Amino acid sequence: MLTISATDIPPERLEGVKVKIFTSKDEFIDFIGPIWKEDVDEECELVRKNGETVVACFCKDPFYCGAEIGKKLSSVSLGVVDTTTYEDPYKLVVGVVLTAWTFDKYKSNRMEKKILFYNPNKDKLKKPIEHAKAQMFARELATEPPNIINPKTFVDRIFESIKELPIEAEVLEKDDLEREGLNLLLSVGKGSDIPPRLLILRYNNGKQKIGLIGKGVTFDAGGYCIKPAEYMRGMHADMSGAAVVASATLWAAKLNIPISINTYIPLAENLISGRAYKVEDIVRSYSGKSVHIGNTDAEGRLILADALAYSKKDMNNLTVTLATLTGAQIVALGYDIAALYATKDEDANLFEEASRYTNEIVWRMPLYERYRKYLKHPSADINNISKIRQAGSIMGALFLKEFAPERWVYLDIAGPALAFEGNVDWASEYPTGWGTRLLLEVMERMG
Ligand code: BES
Ligand code: ZN
Ligand code: ZN
Repeated sequence: MLTISATDIPPERLEGVKVKIFTSKDEFIDFIGPIWKEDVDEECELVRKNGETVVACFCKDPFYCGAEIGKKLSSVSLGVVDTTTYEDPYKLVVGVVLTAWTFDKYKSNRMEKKILFYNPNKDKLKKPIEHAKAQMFARELATEPPNIINPKTFVDRIFESIKELPIEAEVLEKDDLEREGLNLLLSVGKGSDIPPRLLILRYNNGKQKIGLIGKGVTFDAGGYCIKPAEYMRGMHADMSGAAVVASATLWAAKLNIPISINTYIPLAENLISGRAYKVEDIVRSYSGKSVHIGNTDAEGRLILADALAYSKKDMNNLTVTLATLTGAQIVALGYDIAALYATKDEDANLFEEASRYTNEIVWRMPLYERYRKYLKHPSADINNISKIRQAGSIMGALFLKEFAPERWVYLDIAGPALAFEGNVDWASEYPTGWGTRLLLEVMERMG
């Protein structure tokens, strides 16, 4: 368990491993004494000074400096990080937390860990600490094993977490989905003993209305197009988009961000059974369009299509979708970078700018209409897979766009959400909760 908080008590008056950041090696050697010169070859290391353990760090980039510090602190029970080196400690704080965080709640020998961030002006730490907490919440939810988190328990967890918050929640259960006709969501969930759900959260605090939609596949075995064992690993985190939009909604309320949010979370397990949906099924979607099932493993776009069409009822000014949608996104951009799609340039700019602040890198990809033809099907309005193997992430985006409101931003987050597979420098080895801070930052800028 990792807890984080802010302090304005100078580190020398506190217990624990002290972390001080130097902007140059010379400055560091002045502090530690010449005797250490030869020992210092790494950019960030644990050293001892006057019987105290100090982490000295002189990396150039505050985010990656934080990440290096977090790695050092992940095995320490109390760390104190001096954040005064930087005018704005945001990147440093979140960098530390992302690599220090571990998922040890099911371990018998788990360790209570605490990190204090020091700044004489504690106000400067409020935003980074709350954003980091929001991401940890999403991360924990995404990391929970699939025998714990399913379409029912996901809803229970969120209901539990919003008790004290000005958020209204509504859940469409199987009967409601049948009555309303969200047949794509129902189809994906048919193979599971735990029926699918659509969870809706509403937070009302401003004129601007944003719709947030996150893919909530609590386990993706692929359905009858079953994944080979090595590709099934990590698929408990196929609800990362859902965890991120839920967490961003909770923290928007905690931080009193002046915006109104409608959050739609389609939840399902993509499994196999005598009731499961099949390849060649043709399903009438909530939007009215008929969809041919070309591959049961392209399930994310199906549940999102119904949620996107359903969200149009609320006339949101902007709708944002986050999903671990395609392996092709990882092939295109790797684990550090998410694919950004936007129907309006100004929204793409907003996300790009916000992402530079939060250090969640996005790269804009085209909603290239000429590829739409590869989704045609002779007996249905649209096919859920493309005729061509190339441009897989774009094809997923073009499918979703058929159901999305006009002003729409979509992030294919397969890589950064599951960055533990890529062993990145910026996070410990678990699903990351990537995008939580980006959404909060975007909403702060919109509100
Ligand atoms: N959840 C997967 C995508 C994924 C793969 C996310 C790896 C994170 C890591 C998704 O449901 C899926 O299986 N997509 C297919 C789409 C294909 C059948 C068109 C894929 O990417 O292969
Ligand atoms: Zn799949
Ligand atoms: Zn999936």
